[in-house]
Amino acid sequence: MAGFDPSWLALREPYDHGARNRSLTDAFVMALGASPQLVDLGSGTGSNLRFLAPFLPAGQRWTCIDHDPELLACLTKQLPDGIHVETCEQDLASDLEAIALQPGTGVTGAALLDLASADWLDRLAIHCRNAALLMTLSFDGRMIWGPVDPDDRALEAAFARHQQRDKGFGPALGPRAGDYLSRRLRDDGRQVHMAPSDWIFGGGDGPILKAMIDGVSAAAEEEDPSLNLDAWRARRIALVEAGQLSLTVGHVDILALP
Ligand SMILES: C[S@@+](CC[C@H](N)C(=O)[O-])C[C@H]1O[C@@H](n2cnc3c(N)ncnc32)[C@H](O)[C@@H]1O
Repeated sequence: MAGFDPSWLALREPYDHGARNRSLTDAFVMALGASPQLVDLGSGTGSNLRFLAPFLPAGQRWTCIDHDPELLACLTKQLPDGIHVETCEQDLASDLEAIALQPGTGVTGAALLDLASADWLDRLAIHCRNAALLMTLSFDGRMIWGPVDPDDRALEAAFARHQQRDKGFGPALGPRAGDYLSRRLRDDGRQVHMAPSDWIFGGGDGPILKAMIDGVSAAAEEEDPSLNLDAWRARRIALVEAGQLSLTVGHVDILALP
């Protein structure tokens, strides 16, 4: 599977931080106590850590796990002052259960769940059964373009199928991952809270709108090679350049308390 481009992660970071649900953040922070220890799953270049660190007290200790050493190297160059961070190059698909969770450790992750399979989410629920768990920014399948275009439907249908490809964890649940994990955690007797964390892009968001147009159309064409989305892309880019395109991308944040 192709890795995640650090420039894409940097482009989305401010939108991710703006979209995240503050009530769930506050409840997660409260559950961690005065000397928090956290594990960040699929940390990439550290966006999740940079969002959460200012809400947490001094003395916080992080273990940031990713299988991509280049992203972890970027993370270590952008650390907030005064926190202790260890990076760990590890494959979460094969080695999830090798992550040591001390009592009281909080587990978190951003933009990861929709890559995962039902089987891996079951394993996550079991391994983190005693931990506060905050999993954020999981794509929920909503993509609302304004104005609509006649080719949106074909693009979205192929993109939805692409979301279910194996991203290294087995067949991905894609947009169903958030609901699946929440149900699984509730069935285990956990107290679970869900809240939307949608991206809302408009006239001033040209660079990320263009990246979304390229990204979703490339995925849709890869899934259905009979689709030719050149004309769709050209119409969408023209609207971006006129400051007239809007796009909402649905996400969900999930908190389970111990
Ligand atoms: C969409 S990125 C999100 C990165 C970061 N959490 C953020 O919010 O910017 C998904 C991350 O999961 C990591 N990842 C994907 N599959 C993984 C695996 N099997 N083991 C460890 N990390 C994985 C990727 O390398 C990438 O950094």
